[in-house]
Amino acid sequence: MKGIILYYSNTGNTLLACNYMAYKMKQVEFEFCNIKKQKKINLDQYEITGFATFTDAWEPPKLFVDFIIQLPEQKWKPAFVFNTFGFLSGKTLKSMAHHVTGRGFTVIGGHSLHTPENYPPMIRAGLDGAGSPNKGELKKFDEFISNLGDKIDAIKNKKEIMPGKVKIGIINTLLPTYPRSFIQPLMGEKKVDAELCTECGICRKECPTGAITLDPKPVFDTTKCHYCWACYNRCLQKAVYTTKFRGKYHYPRPGERMKEKLSVL
Ligand SMILES: Cc1cc2nc3c(=O)[nH]c(=O)nc-3n(C[C@H](O)[C@H](O)[C@H](O)COP(=O)(O)O)c2cc1C
Ligand code: SF4
Ligand code: SF4
Repeated sequence: MKGIILYYSNTGNTLLACNYMAYKMKQVEFEFCNIKKQKKINLDQYEITGFATFTDAWEPPKLFVDFIIQLPEQKWKPAFVFNTFGFLSGKTLKSMAHHVTGRGFTVIGGHSLHTPENYPPMIRAGLDGAGSPNKGELKKFDEFISNLGDKIDAIKNKKEIMPGKVKIGIINTLLPTYPRSFIQPLMGEKKVDAELCTECGICRKECPTGAITLDPKPVFDTTKCHYCWACYNRCLQKAVYTTKFRGKYHYPRPGERMKEKLSVL
């Protein structure tokens, strides 16, 4: 069976987890689509579609939701939803399931995985989630993958596609909507240290919204910015800084501990 995972990952936690899922689900030959690079996709040749991203202010990132809602309408095609989060996942999974169902998919399962924080304000607050996922969280992740595999086997055997329950837990259910207006002030104005910047262009490449141009140093278009911190986190020189954060609390990519836990070797 051929499947595809449509993912949005800025610092690699979600992508690492997707690789792990694809490796463990032997029933499916998965391809990957990075929605940051590929905005349009024809899903006709895939029998199962995975949607994977990270929590952004207790919701899926706007970029990912916008991607889902422009997908061609499907007829009961099986899908699963998945997200990583650093502290509290909020309504991310429910919201993803809602939008995916809205395009005509049948959501057969969903899971949220606790991973290290890549959000500098939380890391500064001492909540870096560095030890996550812990043993229990990994066990639940494995159970999710195994149950999903069973459902896929049933689909292969032409059994009826049954919608799965997407649970988010009581705390997440009770959380109010996180005001988007909190996001921008927490980051502050973005700037570049001209002495550190090597004009490598990584920030421009990693920016999901095309908000960065090189002239020859990066210039930020605040009207396009989603305040995702990718430019700050991914700059190897730590040349991107803000009026509130400089030279600290970066999360450029998953660390060794996290990589070991989700190793597919
Ligand atoms: C702008 C932004 C907002 C975030 N908001 C939340 C949040 O509300 N709750 C949470 O648990 N984690 C939050 N995080 C942390 C990420 O969801 C988490 O670290 C995730 O694994 C990063 O995924 P990636 O490495 O695939 O980009 C946020 C991260 C960023 C950059
Ligand atoms: S990633 Fe950093 S070093 Fe490279 S162009 Fe951007 S600011 Fe400069
Ligand atoms: S400019 Fe804005 S949208 Fe682009 S990477 Fe930086 S924070 Fe994200």
